[in-house]
Amino acid sequence: MRLISGSARLAGVIGWPVGHSRSPRLHGHWLQRYGVDGAYVPMAVAPADFIEVVRGLAKAGFAGVNVTIPHKEAALALCDSVEPFAARVGAVNTLVFRDGAIHGRNTDGYGFIANLRAHGVRFGGRALILGAGGAARAIGAALQDEGVDVFFCNRTAERGVALAAALNAGTVAWDERAALEGVSLLVNTTSLGMTGKGALAISLERAEAELVVADIVYAPLETALLAAARARGLHAVEGLGMLLHQAVPGFEAWFGVRPQVDAALYEVVAG
Ligand code: ATR
Repeated sequence: MRLISGSARLAGVIGWPVGHSRSPRLHGHWLQRYGVDGAYVPMAVAPADFIEVVRGLAKAGFAGVNVTIPHKEAALALCDSVEPFAARVGAVNTLVFRDGAIHGRNTDGYGFIANLRAHGVRFGGRALILGAGGAARAIGAALQDEGVDVFFCNRTAERGVALAAALNAGTVAWDERAALEGVSLLVNTTSLGMTGKGALAISLERAEAELVVADIVYAPLETALLAAARARGLHAVEGLGMLLHQAVPGFEAWFGVRPQVDAALYEVVAG
């Protein structure tokens, strides 16, 4: 076991609940691998206590924290400064405490893009994003920054339309989700396909041969959507990679080392 000193750097993840989070394993692996004198801990914090806890951690000398459901919007509101991408997405998942100030970032979009890049995907053309929650918003904004023409497709039409209006993107009706002609990237950001949730019903029959299919669901690692894409010979990108890549900027900011996403990390977090 790795021991820490009295001047160890501290970080962690705040959620409610937080027991399902894989971030402690992920950052713990990197701390060990890079021999960092530091610790990364899970913190279950109720919404009513969130602001007080974050301010307290900053005063206690923490370098920063990750913030997960349901705190990402509240985190944005309490920051002293926010990077432009996080402001556009309306949510913060990474807080950095520096010189008495709280700085907010959103690394979900970065994680999604970096994961696709690691799989050799080039960006361009049209993306169809299934879902209209926080993940859809971060991914849509990040894809727009890569020059992709983004369309949202959501079961509850009004939510999809509102998100599209906020990002100046397009919409496709939920019943039209299989109309994949001219689409270069299909992304599932809904919870469908996750262990214990319903199945995502979508036919890939009308997919272009070059379609890339990405799922942000990572339990199971190989979703039915990805299996169907692979069966058709399409390029399929699994969701765990996004989780691994989104952690890179935070780890670097808190612990001073830019960590690598590699097969060993994948095994540790997948297991
Ligand atoms: P997050 O912020 O993590 O992305 P969210 O806000 O809970 O998550 O969004 C979940 C997405 O999954 C939503 O787009 C939701 O669609 P609705 O806006 O219509 O609720 C989608 N979703 C969840 N269950 C679904 C189902 N059975 N069929 C279709 N879409 C579903």
